[in-house]
Amino acid sequence: MENQSHNIHQIIGPDDLARRVAQIAAQIQDDLPQGPITLVPILDGAFIFAADLARNFKDIPIELCFYKAKSYEGNQSGELTTYDPLLDPAKITGRNVLIVDDILDTGKTLSVLQDKLSQHAPQSLKTCVLLAKDHYRQGDLDIKADYIGFEIPDVFVVGYGLDFNGLYRNLPFIGEMT
Ligand code: IMP
Ligand code: MG
Repeated sequence: MENQSHNIHQIIGPDDLARRVAQIAAQIQDDLPQGPITLVPILDGAFIFAADLARNFKDIPIELCFYKAKSYEGNQSGELTTYDPLLDPAKITGRNVLIVDDILDTGKTLSVLQDKLSQHAPQSLKTCVLLAKDHYRQGDLDIKADYIGFEIPDVFVVGYGLDFNGLYRNLPFIGEMT
């Protein structure tokens, strides 16, 4: 897809995304067979992944507690802004909680969220990301994600919820933007 200066080429297609999302849901369901689970999708980027993931939990009830965080301008990582009013402690305290994000890059978002949610005493707290960039595999980060869809190189990606300046979230695949 070409859009003026942006060239986007697919690196993970819709079928692979669907297959992997179903596998992750099955694995989480095996780990927490009793449910219910509170999913905490981090807006805006996680909205499509979280919607697909939620629909793949066939045997356990799911509750949603949205949260919003922002750290990127264009393709540069910057200071993290969080929007706490969305967070409902009643959905966290004593619950099995799963943070759902689109991508793990520096780990800042997940670590801030883990700290915030821990303060509300969940019964368990796990993290799930669709994508993890290379720093993760290289062990450079202090944070761990319990469930990872795909490990990718350190490139800028869009689609399936991920954006560049608010654009391209609608693409049904993960594409590298050059
Ligand atoms: P972290 O806090 O540095 O781990 O970054 C995570 C957040 O940065 C994600 O939730 C994304 O919103 C955004 N992000 C990081 N890398 C990319 C990318 O390649 N494309 C689009 N958004 C990204
Ligand atoms: Mg995000």
